[in-house]
Amino acid sequence: MTAKTYKSIISPSLLSCDLANLEKDAKEMMEMGCEWLHMDIMDGHFVPNLTFGPPVISSLRKAHKDAFIDCHLMVTEPAKWVAPLQKAGASNFTFHIESEMPEGGPKAMIKMVKDAGMKVGIVIKPKTPIEEVFPYVDDIDLVLIMTVEPGFSGQKFMPDVMPKVKALREKAPDLNIQVDGGLSPTTIDSAAEAGANVIVAASAIFGSDDRQGVINSLRAGVDKQIQS
Ligand code: DX5
Ligand code: ZN
Repeated sequence: MTAKTYKSIISPSLLSCDLANLEKDAKEMMEMGCEWLHMDIMDGHFVPNLTFGPPVISSLRKAHKDAFIDCHLMVTEPAKWVAPLQKAGASNFTFHIESEMPEGGPKAMIKMVKDAGMKVGIVIKPKTPIEEVFPYVDDIDLVLIMTVEPGFSGQKFMPDVMPKVKALREKAPDLNIQVDGGLSPTTIDSAAEAGANVIVAASAIFGSDDRQGVINSLRAGVDKQIQS
Protein backbone atom coordinates (compact mmCIF):
# COMPACT_ATOMS: atom_id res chain seq x y z
CA MET A 1 0.00 0.00 0.00
CA THR A 2 1.36 3.47 -0.82
CA ALA A 3 1.50 5.89 2.09
CA LYS A 4 -1.48 8.20 2.31
CA THR A 5 -0.80 11.92 2.51
CA TYR A 6 -4.16 13.10 3.75
CA LYS A 7 -5.15 13.36 7.41
CA SER A 8 -8.33 12.84 9.37
CA ILE A 9 -10.25 16.07 9.90
CA ILE A 10 -13.41 16.23 11.99
CA SER A 11 -15.79 19.07 11.15
CA PRO A 12 -18.83 19.03 13.45
CA SER A 13 -21.89 20.64 11.88
CA LEU A 14 -23.05 23.30 14.32
CA LEU A 15 -26.53 23.17 12.80
CA SER A 16 -27.41 20.67 15.52
CA CYS A 17 -25.72 22.47 18.41
CA ASP A 18 -27.56 24.73 20.82
CA LEU A 19 -27.54 27.77 18.52
CA ALA A 20 -28.28 30.09 21.44
CA ASN A 21 -24.93 28.94 22.81
CA LEU A 22 -22.96 28.75 19.57
CA GLU A 23 -19.79 30.17 21.10
CA LYS A 24 -19.80 27.62 23.91
CA ASP A 25 -20.58 24.60 21.73
CA ALA A 26 -17.94 25.62 19.17
CA LYS A 27 -15.39 25.89 21.98
CA GLU A 28 -16.33 22.46 23.26
CA MET A 29 -15.83 20.96 19.79
CA MET A 30 -12.37 22.53 19.46
CA GLU A 31 -11.40 21.39 22.94
CA MET A 32 -12.45 17.88 21.94
CA GLY A 33 -9.92 18.00 19.10
CA CYS A 34 -12.11 18.90 16.12
CA GLU A 35 -10.02 20.74 13.54
CA TRP A 36 -12.84 22.49 11.68
CA LEU A 37 -16.31 23.90 12.45
CA HIS A 38 -18.88 23.15 9.72
CA MET A 39 -21.43 25.92 9.12
CA ASP A 40 -24.45 25.10 6.95
CA ILE A 41 -25.57 28.25 5.17
CA MET A 42 -29.04 27.75 3.63
CA ASP A 43 -31.18 30.30 1.83
CA GLY A 44 -34.61 28.62 1.72
CA HIS A 45 -34.42 28.48 -2.10
CA PHE A 46 -31.62 26.10 -3.06
CA VAL A 47 -32.79 23.88 -0.21
CA PRO A 48 -36.11 23.92 1.67
CA ASN A 49 -34.59 25.21 4.90
CA LEU A 50 -33.28 28.53 6.20
CA THR A 51 -30.38 28.80 8.61
CA PHE A 52 -27.81 31.53 9.10
CA GLY A 53 -25.49 33.77 7.11
CA PRO A 54 -22.58 36.23 7.36
CA PRO A 55 -23.62 37.92 10.66
CA VAL A 56 -23.49 34.61 12.50
CA ILE A 57 -20.17 33.66 10.88
CA SER A 58 -18.85 37.05 11.92
CA SER A 59 -19.89 36.52 15.56
CA LEU A 60 -18.33 33.07 15.58
CA ARG A 61 -15.11 34.51 14.15
CA LYS A 62 -15.02 37.19 16.88
CA ALA A 63 -15.50 34.53 19.55
CA HIS A 64 -12.91 32.14 18.09
CA LYS A 65 -10.11 33.93 16.27
CA ASP A 66 -8.19 30.75 15.39
CA ALA A 67 -11.08 28.51 14.37
CA PHE A 68 -11.22 27.04 10.89
CA ILE A 69 -14.74 27.99 9.83
CA ASP A 70 -15.81 25.53 7.12
CA CYS A 71 -18.76 27.08 5.24
CA HIS A 72 -21.08 24.85 3.21
CA LEU A 73 -23.16 27.08 0.97
CA MET A 74 -26.63 25.77 0.11
CA VAL A 75 -27.78 28.88 -1.72
CA THR A 76 -29.04 29.65 -5.22
CA GLU A 77 -26.37 32.21 -6.10
CA PRO A 78 -23.14 31.46 -4.19
CA ALA A 79 -21.20 34.24 -6.00
CA LYS A 80 -23.28 36.82 -4.11
CA TRP A 81 -21.94 35.57 -0.78
CA VAL A 82 -18.20 35.45 -1.48
CA ALA A 83 -17.43 39.00 -0.37
CA PRO A 84 -19.79 39.03 2.66
CA LEU A 85 -18.43 35.73 3.92
CA GLN A 86 -14.83 36.73 3.39
CA LYS A 87 -15.53 39.86 5.39
CA ALA A 88 -17.24 37.82 8.08
CA GLY A 89 -14.16 35.63 8.51
CA ALA A 90 -15.00 32.36 6.74
CA SER A 91 -11.98 30.09 6.27
CA ASN A 92 -13.42 27.86 3.60
CA PHE A 93 -16.15 28.46 1.01
CA THR A 94 -17.71 25.31 -0.45
CA PHE A 95 -20.30 25.84 -3.20
CA HIS A 96 -22.73 23.45 -4.87
CA ILE A 97 -21.90 22.81 -8.51
CA GLU A 98 -25.67 22.48 -9.10
CA SER A 99 -26.32 26.08 -8.04
CA GLU A 100 -26.30 29.11 -10.38
CA MET A 101 -22.76 29.83 -11.49
CA PRO A 102 -21.42 33.23 -12.48
CA GLU A 103 -20.34 33.83 -16.09
CA GLY A 104 -17.33 31.59 -16.66
CA GLY A 105 -18.87 28.74 -14.65
CA PRO A 106 -17.23 26.88 -11.75
CA LYS A 107 -13.77 28.05 -12.86
CA ALA A 108 -14.79 31.68 -12.39
CA MET A 109 -16.39 30.84 -9.07
CA ILE A 110 -13.19 29.12 -7.86
CA LYS A 111 -11.13 32.14 -8.86
CA MET A 112 -13.49 34.51 -7.07
CA VAL A 113 -13.18 32.56 -3.80
CA LYS A 114 -9.40 32.24 -4.07
CA ASP A 115 -9.01 35.92 -4.87
CA ALA A 116 -10.97 36.66 -1.71
CA GLY A 117 -8.34 34.70 0.24
CA MET A 118 -10.50 31.77 1.30
CA LYS A 119 -9.97 28.06 0.71
CA VAL A 120 -12.38 26.69 -1.87
CA GLY A 121 -14.45 23.54 -2.11
CA ILE A 122 -16.99 22.10 -4.53
CA VAL A 123 -19.93 20.08 -3.23
CA ILE A 124 -22.17 17.69 -5.13
CA LYS A 125 -25.58 16.27 -4.24
CA PRO A 126 -26.07 12.48 -4.03
CA LYS A 127 -27.43 12.21 -7.58
CA THR A 128 -24.77 14.36 -9.29
CA PRO A 129 -22.13 12.28 -11.11
CA ILE A 130 -18.63 12.55 -9.65
CA GLU A 131 -17.19 13.21 -13.13
CA GLU A 132 -18.61 16.74 -12.89
CA VAL A 133 -15.91 17.74 -10.39
CA PHE A 134 -13.01 16.05 -12.18
CA PRO A 135 -12.04 19.09 -14.30
CA TYR A 136 -11.56 21.18 -11.13
CA VAL A 137 -9.84 18.89 -8.62
CA ASP A 138 -6.36 20.28 -9.21
CA ASP A 139 -7.56 23.84 -8.52
CA ILE A 140 -9.50 23.34 -5.30
CA ASP A 141 -8.86 22.49 -1.65
CA LEU A 142 -11.68 20.04 -1.11
CA VAL A 143 -14.57 18.14 -2.64
CA LEU A 144 -17.63 17.52 -0.50
CA ILE A 145 -19.71 14.52 -1.53
CA MET A 146 -23.15 14.71 0.09
CA THR A 147 -24.33 11.48 1.65
CA VAL A 148 -27.89 12.82 2.16
CA GLU A 149 -29.98 15.30 0.17
CA PRO A 150 -28.84 18.71 1.46
CA GLY A 151 -31.19 20.66 3.74
CA PHE A 152 -31.55 18.99 7.10
CA SER A 153 -29.62 17.25 9.84
CA GLY A 154 -30.67 13.85 11.10
CA GLN A 155 -31.16 12.05 7.77
CA LYS A 156 -30.04 8.55 6.90
CA PHE A 157 -26.57 7.97 5.38
CA MET A 158 -26.73 6.85 1.72
CA PRO A 159 -24.16 4.06 1.24
CA ASP A 160 -24.82 3.99 -2.52
CA VAL A 161 -22.86 7.25 -2.79
CA MET A 162 -19.64 5.47 -1.77
CA PRO A 163 -18.57 4.44 -5.30
CA LYS A 164 -18.29 8.18 -6.04
CA VAL A 165 -15.96 8.69 -3.06
CA LYS A 166 -13.88 5.74 -4.24
CA ALA A 167 -13.65 7.01 -7.81
CA LEU A 168 -12.57 10.44 -6.62
CA ARG A 169 -9.97 9.03 -4.22
CA GLU A 170 -8.46 7.03 -7.09
CA LYS A 171 -8.29 10.14 -9.21
CA ALA A 172 -7.07 12.48 -6.45
CA PRO A 173 -4.94 10.61 -3.87
CA ASP A 174 -3.99 13.76 -1.90
CA LEU A 175 -7.26 15.69 -1.98
CA ASN A 176 -9.39 16.46 1.06
CA ILE A 177 -12.57 14.48 0.44
CA GLN A 178 -15.38 15.48 2.76
CA VAL A 179 -18.59 13.56 3.43
CA ASP A 180 -21.66 15.09 5.01
CA GLY A 181 -24.93 13.52 6.07
CA GLY A 182 -25.72 10.64 8.39
CA LEU A 183 -22.10 10.11 9.49
CA SER A 184 -21.85 8.29 12.82
CA PRO A 185 -19.80 5.57 14.52
CA THR A 186 -21.97 3.06 12.59
CA THR A 187 -21.47 4.54 9.11
CA ILE A 188 -17.91 5.87 9.38
CA ASP A 189 -16.23 2.65 8.20
CA SER A 190 -18.08 2.66 4.91
CA ALA A 191 -17.09 6.31 4.22
CA ALA A 192 -13.49 5.89 5.39
CA GLU A 193 -12.95 2.67 3.42
CA ALA A 194 -14.08 4.49 0.28
CA GLY A 195 -11.44 7.17 0.95
CA ALA A 196 -13.18 10.05 2.75
CA ASN A 197 -10.99 11.92 5.26
CA VAL A 198 -12.97 15.04 6.26
CA ILE A 199 -15.95 14.01 8.33
CA VAL A 200 -18.96 16.22 8.99
CA ALA A 201 -21.42 15.13 11.65
CA ALA A 202 -24.25 16.96 13.37
CA SER A 203 -26.82 14.75 15.06
CA ALA A 204 -24.40 11.92 15.85
CA ILE A 205 -22.25 14.32 17.91
CA PHE A 206 -24.73 16.77 19.40
CA GLY A 207 -27.37 14.12 20.02
CA SER A 208 -25.00 12.01 22.08
CA ASP A 209 -24.29 12.05 25.82
CA ASP A 210 -20.72 11.14 24.95
CA ARG A 211 -19.67 13.67 22.33
CA GLN A 212 -15.99 13.01 22.83
CA GLY A 213 -16.56 9.29 22.34
CA VAL A 214 -18.36 9.90 19.03
CA ILE A 215 -15.62 12.26 17.80
CA ASN A 216 -12.93 9.74 18.75
CA SER A 217 -14.72 6.96 16.98
CA LEU A 218 -15.16 9.01 13.77
CA ARG A 219 -11.46 9.85 13.82
CA ALA A 220 -10.44 6.26 14.56
CA GLY A 221 -12.47 5.11 11.54
CA VAL A 222 -10.52 7.40 9.20
CA ASP A 223 -7.13 6.82 10.84
CA LYS A 224 -7.56 3.06 10.59
CA GLN A 225 -7.89 3.39 6.81
CA ILE A 226 -5.00 5.85 6.53
CA GLN A 227 -2.75 3.40 8.33
CA SER A 228 -3.91 0.38 6.31
C1 DX5 B 1 -27.31 18.88 5.56
C2 DX5 B 1 -26.08 19.53 6.09
C3 DX5 B 1 -25.34 18.76 7.09
C4 DX5 B 1 -26.10 18.36 8.31
C5 DX5 B 1 -25.56 17.02 8.73
O1 DX5 B 1 -27.74 19.61 4.48
O2 DX5 B 1 -25.19 19.82 5.02
O3 DX5 B 1 -24.09 19.37 7.44
O4 DX5 B 1 -26.03 19.26 9.39
O5 DX5 B 1 -26.36 16.49 9.71
P1 DX5 B 1 -26.26 14.97 10.20
O6 DX5 B 1 -24.85 14.71 10.56
O7 DX5 B 1 -27.21 14.90 11.34
O8 DX5 B 1 -26.71 14.14 9.03
ZN1 ZN C 1 -23.17 20.57 5.51
